[in-house]
Amino acid sequence: MAATTPLLQVRDLAVRYSNGDLALHHVSFEIKSPSFMAIIGPNGSGKSTLVKTSLGLIKPSRGTIKVMGYDSQKKSGKIRKLVRYVPQRDRIDLAIPMKVKDIVLMGRLLKKLPPRFATSKDIAIAKDALQQVNMEELWERPFPELSGGQRQRVLVARALASEGSILVLDEPLAGTDVESQNLIVEALGRYHKENDVSIIMVTHDLNPIHTLVEDVLLLKNTVIGLGEPCSIMDPELIKKVYGPTARIVEHSGHRYCMTHDSGIDRHD
Ligand SMILES: Nc1ncnc2c1ncn2[C@@H]1O[C@H](COP(=O)(O)OP(=O)(O)OP(=O)(O)O)[C@@H](O)[C@H]1O
Ligand SMILES: [Mg+2]
Repeated sequence: MAATTPLLQVRDLAVRYSNGDLALHHVSFEIKSPSFMAIIGPNGSGKSTLVKTSLGLIKPSRGTIKVMGYDSQKKSGKIRKLVRYVPQRDRIDLAIPMKVKDIVLMGRLLKKLPPRFATSKDIAIAKDALQQVNMEELWERPFPELSGGQRQRVLVARALASEGSILVLDEPLAGTDVESQNLIVEALGRYHKENDVSIIMVTHDLNPIHTLVEDVLLLKNTVIGLGEPCSIMDPELIKKVYGPTARIVEHSGHRYCMTHDSGIDRHD
């Protein structure tokens, strides 16, 4: 049987910003497809840079990155057709009184050719996506009126409602409480299982997702670790990245990581 095309194939990648900052260097790895993968690492470790480079938004200073076999530089148009991207900071203008439904439908309409009208199928899919994150009752609510966590849920629903075989989410759990985190993580896990969709999720905290993700990439401007969550939840690896106070605890057969980022270690 022919080997399937990898989700990500990265060869000797380096990214330097124009101010001289070397965000990534000597990055080489491969992730099979389909996968639910997490990219973790502390602030400034190059997570967002890696994601943006894979989408062709940033040019590598060295090496290559391929998404489903498509080179990020030569085939970025193809990649953007496959990918639904939720950036770390969305540029939705909160001064414009868009409703929740407009935001979610936008995910579907932007991939259509003009004139862009929502069909009854688009509306049904958008409502279903909102239901996945328990937000269907806010369909008519103005988006700027929502709390930060509710907005994150709507943005995840927008990604679920749009089309493409890869979902890329940069810190979708930022600013959300535990209930919102669980809703988002469960919706993504379910979606990955039920559809042939790969998920690439950047996150500070592996704990809420480590039972669902299949591959974890641990970054600190280069690859520190890659493997299944248990192999990355390793005290030596975690200390290398998060410092000497980081540790791993085992509970009910699962490993949890305690770092200053997760804040858990302040209580012991
Ligand atoms: N537009 C930019 N211009 C110059 N340097 C940048 C730019 N964006 C990021 N950097 C630098 O590149 C490095 C990696 O940044 P990046 O945003 O990829 O990290 P991150 O892991 O996503 O961090 P965070 O967890 O804070 O989101 C940092 O040192 C950062 O200062
Ligand atoms: Mg980032």
